[in-house]
Amino acid sequence: MAAAAAELALVKSFHPMSKFSGRASSKVATFRPRHLRISASAAAAPPAAGPKKKKSGKTTEINETLLTPRFYTTDFEEMEQLFNAEMNKNLNQAEFEALLNEFKTDYNQTHFVRNPEFKEAADKMQGPLRKIFVEFLERSCTAEFSGFLLYKELGRRLKKTNPVVAEIFSLMSRDEARHAGFLNKGLSDFNLALDLGFLTKARKYTFFKPKFIFYATYLSEKIGYWRYITIYRHLKANPEFQLYPIFKYFENWCQDENRHGDFFSALMKAQPQFLNDWKAKLWSRFFCLSVYVTMYLNDCQRTTFYEGIGLNTKEFDMHVIIETNRTTARIFPAVLDVENPEFKRKLDRMVEINKKLIAVGESQDLPVVKNLKKVPLVAALVSEIVAAYLMPPVESGSVDFADFEPTLVY
Ligand SMILES: [Fe+2]
Ligand SMILES: [Fe+2]
Repeated sequence: MAAAAAELALVKSFHPMSKFSGRASSKVATFRPRHLRISASAAAAPPAAGPKKKKSGKTTEINETLLTPRFYTTDFEEMEQLFNAEMNKNLNQAEFEALLNEFKTDYNQTHFVRNPEFKEAADKMQGPLRKIFVEFLERSCTAEFSGFLLYKELGRRLKKTNPVVAEIFSLMSRDEARHAGFLNKGLSDFNLALDLGFLTKARKYTFFKPKFIFYATYLSEKIGYWRYITIYRHLKANPEFQLYPIFKYFENWCQDENRHGDFFSALMKAQPQFLNDWKAKLWSRFFCLSVYVTMYLNDCQRTTFYEGIGLNTKEFDMHVIIETNRTTARIFPAVLDVENPEFKRKLDRMVEINKKLIAVGESQDLPVVKNLKKVPLVAALVSEIVAAYLMPPVESGSVDFADFEPTLVY
């Protein structure tokens, strides 16, 4: 999974047709921050670096909010049934075997090799930019690691039912482990390290039914691809903003994410019931909206980072959203009309409301006063999100399915 991966939870609890299992919905309907832990790997971390240190010195805590990358779990028994070749005649084993061979080729086996440039670049970075870089590395590492855990478990659980699909999941978890590890090495340049073992045990897992895992992971892989390739191309054209060498690795890296997304595309084609009815259309739009809104709100809180590498945050995000939406339209039966200027206007209004919500959260008011002040803001945010959801959609999807009314959109 990629940087924007796994950041799905934002609007789930607000959604009018939200009917996730109780295990999931009860976990996200709160603004209360939880915590995750990172360790300072050396005592000499520069003072401006990283999140606030606890007095004990050894461990550092950062806030985990509704917009933080999440960890997922699913109904593995249902997954087993879905990939049982005897029960599901739509499974195109030949296609999965071809994909498996591609994953076995392991194009990026020797790609993630570090050099002394990393530490030198990190040492040069100071002040707010350094802090936001550390946060970027932490969030990206958490998101990649989240993918690793989910794919590893799927690889393990599907071994008996469908060894080919299972092996692909295992090889995808190999990729994600590599990505997370590379980002965590990056944190060591800033004298920090994410405690991934601790994260595995301590973090809560959000439950999604298999169908929703497919929508969510497909989108996060594809949006990850578009984020990485856009940053890579921008920095190639504007090398003066190449502040840290990790971005030079994004071109091959994002091909991993693209392959992961293509695998989910093949998985969904093997489960046409998830793509070919009116419910699938509603859910497709819902997941697109959750992913796009989450990314936009997250990134607009981190303009220092994007400006630091010479990007205009909103332009970058809109480019990523539009490209991801075009890619997604090839497989999802409906997507949002993100190229309608009204969609961006709605996103911008959400950003303004979210800023006010953050200001209330950071104020010195009593908790009860804060909550009272948040009510109208949350209501305004929900109404913008619902309005964006209800905008006329774009019918899309593969023409392979007879039940679709195919429309050529792009
Ligand atoms: Fe990844
Ligand atoms: Fe991935």
